[in-house]
Amino acid sequence: MFIQYAEKVMIQTKAPSGAPYSVAVIGASGYSGAELVRIILRHPALRLESLYAFSQVGKRFSDLYPSISCDMEFLRYEGECTSDICFLALPHGEALKIVPELLGQGKMVIDLSGDFRLKNPEEHERYYQQSKPAGSTLTYAMPELFRDAISRSTAVSNPGCYATSIILGLAPLFHGTDRAFRVSMVNCTAISGISGAGRTSKTELSFSEMSENMRAYKVGHHQHTPEIMQALGSSASDPSFDFTFTPVIGPFTRGIYSLLNVSLEGETAGSTIEDLYRKFYAKAPFVRVRSSMTEVRHVALTNFCDIHIASGPENGRLVIVSAIDNLLKGAAGQAVQNMNIMLGLEETLGLS
Ligand SMILES: NC(=O)c1ccc[n+]([C@@H]2O[C@H](COP(=O)([O-])OP(=O)(O)OC[C@H]3O[C@@H](n4cnc5c(N)ncnc54)[C@H](OP(=O)(O)O)[C@@H]3O)[C@@H](O)[C@H]2O)c1
Repeated sequence: MFIQYAEKVMIQTKAPSGAPYSVAVIGASGYSGAELVRIILRHPALRLESLYAFSQVGKRFSDLYPSISCDMEFLRYEGECTSDICFLALPHGEALKIVPELLGQGKMVIDLSGDFRLKNPEEHERYYQQSKPAGSTLTYAMPELFRDAISRSTAVSNPGCYATSIILGLAPLFHGTDRAFRVSMVNCTAISGISGAGRTSKTELSFSEMSENMRAYKVGHHQHTPEIMQALGSSASDPSFDFTFTPVIGPFTRGIYSLLNVSLEGETAGSTIEDLYRKFYAKAPFVRVRSSMTEVRHVALTNFCDIHIASGPENGRLVIVSAIDNLLKGAAGQAVQNMNIMLGLEETLGLS
């Protein structure tokens, strides 16, 4: 069902001959993994070599996702991988066990979980209820902010889906030059489609529970809170501005719609906030600063993040709206964008 739109578009299923890099997807039976497969099959520099799963081992990819004609069988990962590049799309905690092995085998690694995102191990333990060894972080791979670091890395941690939408919606206010103001408060409500919770079925996410319904959850303690603060140059343990985040699950399959209420202190006249955003994202091929309202359906099935300054900066108050497809810019699309940068390829290759 999550790939409903994909059935409407032509899917190229043959691996391009002579593609130089072999690729494995670990967690290929899940929603993010399946999106990775869909992109990799069309990517001119990649050859899909192996798919790993857990409960679905032995089944074929097309048994689960008939809209993508890939007959490869799901394998069990047993500590070794022959491919040049490994994408991991596993539940939190699983990549922590596997990534060190893959790095020892000299693989290029792109991990989609939260295992390696947070630099502060105490914050990781608090928000993920799992401890991890100090120093177990990888380059935080948000191309629009950390492109140079990504290009020098062979292993990266892909940002979370809510985090991607919210960080991109706020970054010019924190990282942009030409600022004579500071952000004093951000109040954020972000609505996610149900595929954000993955493929595993849960009663509270079933059609009859979620159809024509919305539900806030993890208010004040969602695991993307410290990630957002970290990427904005602050920290959840010692915040430099007030931040509240209310995640909401909504009755649609894919997409994240973030409503960001911001208070600024200082001078906001002169160049408009929209100009600041346009300048900041001038070289970012997947961020579109729009003069009209963003909508989830404008970004669904794309790797774009659409941002609109909906009101302000009168009286130092701003309302910014940011939208992404959680499975693409929020997961698989951004992962391939990062891989392109790591390999020195065109950033948009295979993603247009
Ligand atoms: N969904 C999103 O929008 C999104 C966005 C950004 C990041 N992420 C992150 O990406 C990762 C994957 O998310 P998802 O939504 O794609 O999840 P998912 O649909 O639930 O898929 C999980 C995958 O992991 C495998 N798996 C489950 N338990 C395992 C275990 N104990 N050991 C090894 N493999 C196991 C599953 O295999 P079987 O199916 O064979 O059991 C499946 O391939 C998560 O860390 C998630 O936070 C997700």
